[in-house]
Amino acid sequence: MNVLVTGGAGFIGCNFVHLLLAERPDWRIVCLDALTYAGNLANLEAARDQANFRFVKGDICDAAVAGELMADIDAVVNFAAESHVDRSILGCQEFIRTNIQGTQVLLDAARRASVRRFVQVSTDEVYGSLGAEGRFTEQTPLAPNSPYSASKAAADMLVQAYHHTYGFATLITRCSNNYGPYQFPEKLIPLFVTNLLADKKVPVYGDGQNVRDWLHVSDHCRAVLCVLEQGPPGAVYNIGGNNERANIEITKKLIELLGKDESLMEFVPDRLGHDRRYAIDAGKIQRELGWEPRIDFAQGLKNTIQWYIDHEPWWQAIKSGDYRQYYQRQYGTAL
Ligand code: NAD
Ligand code: DAU
Repeated sequence: MNVLVTGGAGFIGCNFVHLLLAERPDWRIVCLDALTYAGNLANLEAARDQANFRFVKGDICDAAVAGELMADIDAVVNFAAESHVDRSILGCQEFIRTNIQGTQVLLDAARRASVRRFVQVSTDEVYGSLGAEGRFTEQTPLAPNSPYSASKAAADMLVQAYHHTYGFATLITRCSNNYGPYQFPEKLIPLFVTNLLADKKVPVYGDGQNVRDWLHVSDHCRAVLCVLEQGPPGAVYNIGGNNERANIEITKKLIELLGKDESLMEFVPDRLGHDRRYAIDAGKIQRELGWEPRIDFAQGLKNTIQWYIDHEPWWQAIKSGDYRQYYQRQYGTAL
């Protein structure tokens, strides 16, 4: 099996590459990544000396690169994206380009090369926001609220159109919030862990009562592998941890686990258009493909904190330079 993994130098993509190298040692993996601010070759250090792994620096919007790479590829897993909601609110041009146009370029290149399967890694955010009750199923209508989620929903629709129109063997996964090693410290958990480790304040948006459904990244990656290997063409699968937490609960837990003081918690103005609650019904993938989350949240969170403690040079290198400008712009304060 020859697999093209796009966005493999980012958080979830690199965890997926490590999973494949460990559990599918006879597969050949090509990773295409543009190394944007979120892509980091250090995330693939352990992969790069493996004979069955090849890294290509390139843009998924570049049809020539995509066409060339597809030649002997059996399956594509598309993780490449602009992934941060706050950045999409500051400006969404790159989100439209990479998330929509990039997906179209990959779909065309893959279809032309008769690639056998195309997995689009999407998000639960395409379903919009929930009130206090209910969970997203695969039948929930798409109702994205942020520029980021609107771009992901547009890509999902293109992917489904390619299945409907051309009979191309596409699959879509829609996962809830991930946490774990190698997550870029702009997202809630790694941002707060690394700020707390440096005795810096942690900015909680609004009243801190927004709810997310947290899943360890390794459980997400195992789910994507199940879908790649077993999902029927055209299918959509929700993936989630059945693990709803309010942001304030996560914040207090991180402060407690790191032995810090709650005075480091700071309520800041809310994210514009902030979705209130996400919750996933993952019954379909459990019933049809036999996938279950394996990592308990309490243990996963402790291990994740330990990973950031053990990898301080990794995140210190990221939290300098351009990152500081982003932080100033986003939070109105210096890091
Ligand atoms: P990330 O931002 O950490 O990584 C994205 C990667 O894509 C980076 O390596 C970046 O360099 C690369 N990339 C960006 N633009 C590119 C382009 N034009 N061409 C080639 N490569 C490009 O993102 P992540 O958190 O790992 O998310 C991966 C995917 O999973 C995304 O599609 C995201 O929408 C989806 N997702 C994320 C979560 C989450 O909680 N992080 C949950 C559900 C779904
Ligand atoms: O649900 C899946 C999505 O999860 C993915 O599609 C996205 O790529 C990923 O970024 C994530 O989106 P969120 O917006 O939910 O994640 P984020 O970590 O940015 O925020 C989680 C919650 O924490 C959200 O309610 C906003 C809040 N928050 C976030 C930041 C960065 C804060 O209160 N303060 C912050 O500084």
